[in-house]
Amino acid sequence: MTARGRTADVLVNNAGFSIPQSFGAVPWSRQRDFLMTLVVAPCALAHGVLPGMIAKGAGRIINVASLASFAPGAAGHSLYPGAKRLMLTFSQALDAEYRAKGLKVTAICPGFTKTEFAQANATAHLMDEAPRLFRQSAQTVVAAAIAGNEAGKVVVIPGWHNKLAAVLLQYLPQGLVRAMVQAGSSKYHLGD
Ligand SMILES: NC(=O)c1ccc[n+]([C@@H]2O[C@H](COP(=O)([O-])OP(=O)(O)OC[C@H]3O[C@@H](n4cnc5c(N)ncnc54)[C@H](OP(=O)(O)O)[C@@H]3O)[C@@H](O)[C@H]2O)c1
Repeated sequence: MTARGRTADVLVNNAGFSIPQSFGAVPWSRQRDFLMTLVVAPCALAHGVLPGMIAKGAGRIINVASLASFAPGAAGHSLYPGAKRLMLTFSQALDAEYRAKGLKVTAICPGFTKTEFAQANATAHLMDEAPRLFRQSAQTVVAAAIAGNEAGKVVVIPGWHNKLAAVLLQYLPQGLVRAMVQAGSSKYHLGD
């Protein structure tokens, strides 16, 4: 990017989808596309914009992670928590490396958000069953991400219910967390 004389002021790594079937039930090409979209592309884009941002002494990177960044693996969506965890820790690493050079890096970690996400993976009917209290609008999540990034927050979890869930996921005994997540997410696993 810099080689073409162009620089970016802001990078938002948002593109994503999930795969609700068991890992082996879909072709490897689909799993690879998942990793390319949710892991490789965001890292490559960040790598591409960094030189220009460093040269300007300013730049903003928002990586869309997830509440799943704090969750253990469960049946279905096999690569999703790991990919989102990487977005979280990658954001922390970039902040540690480049904050002093004027960059602000944020991982936004939403829970259920009303978008096309569930339609795209055929679980919309299940998402609709989630209590309304737990479903945020995309506008709410975007506003939290922008405000958090402007304030220099590295990890932003929008909504008190998601903050509470993140605390429970991290601090309850991990055996209990795994059992709870497996039970709660089993209906989102579309099998083999
Ligand atoms: N919705 C939730 O409950 C929720 C919760 C936590 C985190 N997230 C994360 O939020 C981000 C945005 O998702 P969303 O909820 O807004 O879902 P969405 O409405 O389905 O939007 C997903 C976006 O990603 C793009 N995309 C998907 N696959 C792509 C690919 N291979 N190459 C390029 N673009 C691709 C889509 O483009 P097209 O429209 O062109 O397909 C679309 O713009 C994702 O990273 C997701 O993991 C969502």
